[in-house]
This record gives sequence, structure tokens and C-alpha cells, in this order.
Amino acid sequence: MKGLVLAGGKGTRLRPVTYSLAKQLVPVANRPILHYVVENLIAAGIAQIGVVISPETGETIRKSLEEGHFDAEFTFILQEEPKGLAHAVRTARTFLEDGPFVMYLGDNLIGSGIGDLVERFRQREDEALILLKEVENPRMFGVVVTDREGNARRLVEKPSVPPSNLALVGVYLFGRRIFDAIDSLAPSARGEYEITDAIQTLVDWGIPVRTARLETWWLDTGKKDDLLEANRIVLDEWTRPDVRGTVLDSSIVGRVRIGEGALVERSVVRGPAVIGEGAVVRDARIGPFTSIGRGCCIEGSTVDYSVIMENARICGVERLDASLVGCRSRIVRRARRDMSMSLCVGDDAEIEV
Ligand code: DAU
Repeated sequence: MKGLVLAGGKGTRLRPVTYSLAKQLVPVANRPILHYVVENLIAAGIAQIGVVISPETGETIRKSLEEGHFDAEFTFILQEEPKGLAHAVRTARTFLEDGPFVMYLGDNLIGSGIGDLVERFRQREDEALILLKEVENPRMFGVVVTDREGNARRLVEKPSVPPSNLALVGVYLFGRRIFDAIDSLAPSARGEYEITDAIQTLVDWGIPVRTARLETWWLDTGKKDDLLEANRIVLDEWTRPDVRGTVLDSSIVGRVRIGEGALVERSVVRGPAVIGEGAVVRDARIGPFTSIGRGCCIEGSTVDYSVIMENARICGVERLDASLVGCRSRIVRRARRDMSMSLCVGDDAEIEV
């Protein structure tokens, strides 16, 4: 069975960070979300993976996956325009050869593997198996109503009046009939070819659409707060103490990962936290629940519950809390005034206060 990762589209919700970085590459615990996706597919025994990319961010996606040294064979599939998830599947049809496949949205992070799901689908040879989770804000998702046997009966994409609170998580398993359903689609009100509508078409044709519930957490990392929460959970669940860099006159408390070539000097780092390779942390207090990217420089500052992306520099900031700071940004405080900041700063920004 092949895998299809959707890593095209346009990332509007995490702006300004996604003006310059594909949303699938936004880091959680210093690792791009996309790498967790690919890892989950490989762990489920899927080694042939198609990756749908856009003209704008395709090259960085390709580079990031190459740098990940995954044990999988990637085929990159260019989708010229983000015309919807069903359109992305149609674009990948030659790669998929009309065979069964797992489709996985490249910006979704779930707290468990998909091995059992893939196995169940393989054994039963169904035409569709979708993963669902109860959510508090169903208007933001594809929503599903199921019957007593747990088969999907009705599916609606981002309904204004949700018929249930069961959302489609971004993992879908399909047989070949989905291609027929996609061929029969018209664009939705938002002008996209919706996979949700294609699945509804299968239901209308009398083809059973099976469902499974996701028992662990799921973050579709849409907004800053979601991303910080994803970072908190992943750091909390998966960080193991691992100090490879140099630590001088500092105190490392709890589970902290410090990458090779990093320097932590006269500082306190409270886990769970990660400090990327080659980062410098000097006269600073970091964490908990904080990811400092590769090559960052944090001096004379306190940073907690934040994601600081690669090569950013934070200097003299009394307290930076619940913040997302883009790659190569500089935040420098010159005035002597107590203050706390909560920021969402895109790449290459310069802030002096
Ligand atoms: O996150 C789960 C939700 O994902 C589901 O509940 C919805 O039913 C489903 O439609 C989808 O909704 P989103 O609005 O969140 O989809 P988004 O536009 O964010 O795209 C999801 C992924 O697919 C993302 O990695 C970008 C990629 N994509 C998207 C489009 C529209 C493509 O590769 N090509 C596209 O044309």
C-alpha cells in the first residue's frame, strides 16, 4: 500500500510565519510537523510515499525530507494550484496507480501511530476508512454523522450548523472507487474539490465508509495557540534528557535535550525543553515547554512556553511568554524597563524595544 502526504496548499492561518515557511515545516519540538507524518507512515509499513507539493514551497519540502534521511522512497507530485484535497488526490493518480492508499494531511499531528488502522483496512479490503475525533469547534472541520454500526452516513465540510461534533482527522484510507467519486465532483462553495464531498459520494453510491475513533490527542496546528499547545504536548510526551552540547555554570532541570555544538552558559533551562544544534544560551532562563531552534542566540532573556525558530536572536528581553518567533528574527530590548511580551513574529523580523 502506498502513502500520499498532502504538503501543498497555502498556509494562511499561521501567517506571518507561513509567508516564508511551508506550514508543514513549522517545527514542533524542533522537528517539522511533516517529519512526524512521514515517520508515522513508515512505522505503519508504508515505504512508497507520494508527496503533493505546491510551486511556492515544493523545493523546501523536498529538501527537508531529504535532510530527514527517512527509510522511504519519495515521489514528489506538483499540484499547480491549491484546488482542494480531492484535486490533490486526482493529481497523484498516476503515482497511486488506482491502488489502495493512505492519505495523510502534512500539517496534522496525532498522538499515536496509524499501524492498527492500516492493518484493519488491509484485512477488510474496504473502499474507505476515515479517522474521527470529537471536537469542541466542529465548524472548523469536515464533520461526520455515523450510523449505529459506525459507518459514515453524512459528511459536511466546515458546516455553519454542525450536525455532529465528530471531525475528520487528516488521515484517510481509500480503495480505487474514490477516484470515480472524485471524477464526479463539482467545486464546493469555497471553490475547492473537497475530499469530504467525494466520501459523501461513496456513501450515496451505497459503498460502506468505515470509521475509527482517534483515542489520543490531535492537533491540526492551525493557529499560533494550537502550535504552542502542540509543542507543549510533544515536548511533554516525547522529550528524553540528552545533553550533547556544552553546559557551563548552568542548571539543567528536568527533561532537556541540548543539541550538538550548542552552548548553555550561566543559565537555567527547565524541561521539558529543547535547545537546537549550535544554539547559544547565555545569562538566560529557558522553559518549561520551550523549543529553541538550531543556531539561535538567546542572551540575557527569559523565554517560556514558546517556539523560537532557527537562527533567531533574542537579547535582553525580560520575559517572552507564549510566543512564536520566525527564523532569523531579531528581538532586542534596549530600554531598561520591566516588561513581558507575547509575540507572533514572522521570519526575518527585527524588533527593538
Ligand atoms: O485538519 C483536518 C481537516 O483538514 C479536515 O477536518 C477537513 O475535512 C479537511 O478538508 C481539511 O481541512 P483544512 O481546511 O484544514 O485543509 P487545508 O487547506 O489546511 O489542507 C490540509 C493539508 O493539505 C495541508 O497540508 C495543505 C494540503 N493541501 C491543501 C489544499 C487545499 C494540498 O496539498 N493541496 C490543496 O489543494
